Amino acid sequence: MADEPLVLGIETSCDETGVGIVRGTTLLADAVASSVDTHARFGGVVPEIASRAHLEAMVPTIERALKTAGISARDLDGIAVTAGPGLAGALLVGVSAAKAYAYALNKPLYGVNHLASHICVDQLEHGPLPEPTMALLVSGGHSSLLLAPDITSDVRPMGATIDDAAGEAFDKIARVLNLGFPGGPVIDRLAKEGDPRAIAFPRGLTGPRDPAYDFSFSGLKTAVARWIEAKRNAGEEVPVRDVAASFQEAVADVLTRKAVRACKDEGVDHLMIGGGVAANSRLRALAQERCERAGIRLRVPRPGLCTDNGAMVAALGAEMVARNRPASDLELSADSSLPVTEPHVPGAAHEPGGAHEPGGAHAHPHDHDHVHEVSKKNLYS
Ligand code: KG4
Ligand code: ZN
Repeated sequence: MADEPLVLGIETSCDETGVGIVRGTTLLADAVASSVDTHARFGGVVPEIASRAHLEAMVPTIERALKTAGISARDLDGIAVTAGPGLAGALLVGVSAAKAYAYALNKPLYGVNHLASHICVDQLEHGPLPEPTMALLVSGGHSSLLLAPDITSDVRPMGATIDDAAGEAFDKIARVLNLGFPGGPVIDRLAKEGDPRAIAFPRGLTGPRDPAYDFSFSGLKTAVARWIEAKRNAGEEVPVRDVAASFQEAVADVLTRKAVRACKDEGVDHLMIGGGVAANSRLRALAQERCERAGIRLRVPRPGLCTDNGAMVAALGAEMVARNRPASDLELSADSSLPVTEPHVPGAAHEPGGAHEPGGAHAHPHDHDHVHEVSKKNLYS
């Protein structure tokens, strides 16, 4: 174990300042400072508040993680950081901190993908990821089905939400029911006392002509809101527990149905579920039931590792080191829309068409980087 890579990971893509330390696939520390309470009164995450909170929490959270792990920063084999996707300003705080530590300590830097990290974290709980693994990632910011033949280099999008993320739907329904933010945990709790068959809410994109692996929760959200409004207008009491249970059933049904179908179609016999919504008890139970019936092994990390955290970033960083993937440059920039197909951001020397490759005229891998540059130039010239 002593020769497995010792990596510190920093995560700041949304409202959690996460710092994790792992050795190989062993978790040594997972320090999280959340600004969720400061956002609660706005009913959602406010980017500027999140960025400021990251800045304040960063150094103390890193120090707490090092202390818990019982190591010195000098012992590290690398520093990993979420390079994207996420909130631009929030990501920037983490990337800047990671670069500063990597430079000061003279350690390799690994800018990694937030979604790939959500998948890779399961290694800390259930051991090395089977290859390939199908992943269902469901949180307040994302809902995607991903096929991962190699988590460090090959992640393929199968489907994603075409409108709201699954967690967003939980949050919005909780708001309509005046249950506060975030909505997932409270709906989960109330649903346990409700009847999931009380109200037949729609299952989005499940018709024969609909895309097999994409999701849509906007129609469901509207249907639930209208149903509640109709009850209120009729002066009747809203059966909150039944609404919660029936809504949750619709979400869990669609997510598990599509994930199992993707596994069957692709001949993949391992499904992992990650992201904040993976904490949902009904989603976990229904996924277990349907996977068992289909002969698929289900892997769901414990809730603390499903929500955004630094351990997941460290886990993917350690895998990058273990597999000799190229480190990032100190010029690494945060990329709020980093594509899921890029598990990490290698340095310019390794980019296809990069500055050091024959014929490569530019150093930026994504078209949208150029869009930014062009528009900025227009602005100042
Ligand atoms: O992964 P996460 O902490 O942050 C991101 O959105 O990236 O996920 C938070 C989301 C929120 O929308 C929250 O309502 C949802 O996960 N969530 C749940 C549960 N716990 C958290 N949704 C359903 N059931 C839960 N038990
Ligand atoms: Zn996330």
